[in-house]
Amino acid sequence: MSQKNIILVTGASGHLGKAVTSRLLDEKSTVIGTVLTPEESLDFDNHPDFEKYVADVSNEEEVSRLVDYITETYGQIDFAALLVGGFAMGTLAETSLADLEKMYRLNFLTAYLCCQNLSAQMQKQNQGGHIVMAGARPALQSSAGASMVSYSLSKSLLFQLHEIINAKTTETGVRCSMVVPSVLDTPPNRESMPDADFSDWVTPAQIAETVAFLASSRSTPLRETVFKLYGNA
Ligand SMILES: NC(=O)c1ccc[n+]([C@@H]2O[C@H](COP(=O)([O-])OP(=O)(O)OC[C@H]3O[C@@H](n4cnc5c(N)ncnc54)[C@H](OP(=O)(O)O)[C@@H]3O)[C@@H](O)[C@H]2O)c1
Repeated sequence: MSQKNIILVTGASGHLGKAVTSRLLDEKSTVIGTVLTPEESLDFDNHPDFEKYVADVSNEEEVSRLVDYITETYGQIDFAALLVGGFAMGTLAETSLADLEKMYRLNFLTAYLCCQNLSAQMQKQNQGGHIVMAGARPALQSSAGASMVSYSLSKSLLFQLHEIINAKTTETGVRCSMVVPSVLDTPPNRESMPDADFSDWVTPAQIAETVAFLASSRSTPLRETVFKLYGNA
């Protein structure tokens, strides 16, 4: 059994995924980071403790293969940061079935499939495991969600899933936590909201700091944790 933390990060090429992966590598963890396309080039590609794994995590078989691969190669999976996701605007009237399904697949199904496979593996481990998912404020505040219906509904399912996993922690040893950013300070958000005060937003590095804490043994007593990282937004 490895002494290092073996960590899965999904969406490692995303704005948050890059910050989280870098931060976890600083902690001397081994990180297996998923990307959707093989040609994706990342700053930490050559880091000795990083392995890039190409997978579509909305595909059931690919997620099963991913979790099997990590377990067979590294012996265990201690922690996972499930960061694949996306955003869409639209009121109830504007949101079509296709819009709803797209957000459901991207935000919920991707995390669900990972949780299902990770939970099965982590339950077999003496030390259990810890899964962190990225929520979103509109899923917790319906007034904000009214203009982004497919997004907030898909993210709210994650909070439900988080509770379902945590309801069995004492039996399974598998914990689940949520990190909830308001608006991340990323180039696409700056481009789409040029008049906003960017200093009000939360940075990917700040979220990464919290994820690194959750990945550490210092978070061991925490249960059913929802970290709201809203900055001043
Ligand atoms: N940005 C914000 O303001 C904000 C606010 C609240 C919550 N969040 C949440 O935080 C998380 C990260 O956000 P972000 O801004 O860093 O997003 P991002 O930059 O768009 O990153 C998402 C990553 O997921 C990958 N991905 C998409 N579909 C995938 C699939 N089926 N299988 C595998 N990988 C897939 C993308 O790959 P490609 O680039 O190749 O498509 C991308 O690398 C998301 O869950 C998001 O909803 C973000």
